[in-house]
Amino acid sequence: MNNRYVQNGLIAIAAISLFACNNASQQTASPDSTNLPQAATESVTACVSYLNKKSFEDTIDGKATSLYVLKNNNGACVAITNYGGRIVSIVVPDKNGKPTDVAVGFKTVKEYQGPGDAYFGALVGRVGNRIAKGKFTLDGKEYTLATNNGPNSLHGGKKGFSAVVWDATQPNDSTLSLTYVSKDGEEGYPGTLTSNVTYTLGADNAIRINYKATTDKKTVVNLTNHTYFNLNGEGSGTILNHLVQIGADKYTPVDATLIPTGKLDPVTGTPFDFTKPTAIGSRIDTAKNIQLKNGGGYDHNFVLRNAGPALHPAAEVTGDQSGIVMNVLTTEPGMQFYIGNFMSGKNSFKSGAKDDYRTAFCMETQHFPDAPNQKNFPSIVLEPGKEYTSTTIYKFAVKK
Ligand code: BGC
Repeated sequence: MNNRYVQNGLIAIAAISLFACNNASQQTASPDSTNLPQAATESVTACVSYLNKKSFEDTIDGKATSLYVLKNNNGACVAITNYGGRIVSIVVPDKNGKPTDVAVGFKTVKEYQGPGDAYFGALVGRVGNRIAKGKFTLDGKEYTLATNNGPNSLHGGKKGFSAVVWDATQPNDSTLSLTYVSKDGEEGYPGTLTSNVTYTLGADNAIRINYKATTDKKTVVNLTNHTYFNLNGEGSGTILNHLVQIGADKYTPVDATLIPTGKLDPVTGTPFDFTKPTAIGSRIDTAKNIQLKNGGGYDHNFVLRNAGPALHPAAEVTGDQSGIVMNVLTTEPGMQFYIGNFMSGKNSFKSGAKDDYRTAFCMETQHFPDAPNQKNFPSIVLEPGKEYTSTTIYKFAVKK
């Protein structure tokens, strides 16, 4: 075994848990998923050898797409394409030091444009999640968006920020800066919105995402990242045995079309109580729970505790086989926890595995869904002269 990974594993074990009350220790069963070809396992450039950069080189809407790799000296690397600003791979060592790709994704930029795409790894905007009936009103004027999810508008509309080519610059091995200018009226939204998203991979195996945006007209904005994680490794099967802890005492219940009712309901005594580490699947089959029925499982926004302008812990997730732990910190008030209820095995991922039902989960940090129509939710209005800023960190370590 590569000594560097053993050493890194020790460093990672020493990492401080963001949820001090989480003492969950993991089983020592050896993970059976092989996520990377052998040749790649010795190298921090595993992302590059695993993926063929050429398969991401294309011209879409007259703009060049490519694959960019961030790496550090601690066994981690992240591959991102500027098509939709999508995270394609996140490779981190597991509890045995084995490089493991914990992000689900495709091998080619073409597949990301195909009918099977479900926002895999994408930057989502101009407004993440749903806007009821694709309508909202700003200063007395009603705006109409395309409806692309039943009666509602989802993730920015027909061609949201996940389906555009971002301008990319990579100043160094650990940073990728992406910029996209969305025209006034694009997808029905008012104002020219200039968004900049910076991905940084730290020496501590933390991926930091800094979002910024400015507008020339009053508009609404709610950016997020839609990476599908499987902490046992892409293609290793169900995520229902992952342990999840969420820093939320309340969540926003939804109607049958996944639009929030406007209430903030306590999680206590419900399957939405993740205040202590709990296996995702332990309460999932509660057919009697109307909220799980509405979401087809977890597909809900959690109201994060201690939300304020500073970074606060949103979640901690542990892969039951790999021992890989992901801590999520954010400046956002909410987090959509989605567990791949609509995954249906129609697509093949990088590893060759199918996107089977509930084999990945998302933790989309954001303002609450349908915010423009919900007067009790924190506002997502952005005015000219003001700057939208948001930060989310996905930090990886291991538990043995
Ligand atoms: C939504 C799900 C949707 C998924 C698409 C999530 O953010 O809440 O309802 O199916 O994105 O990938």
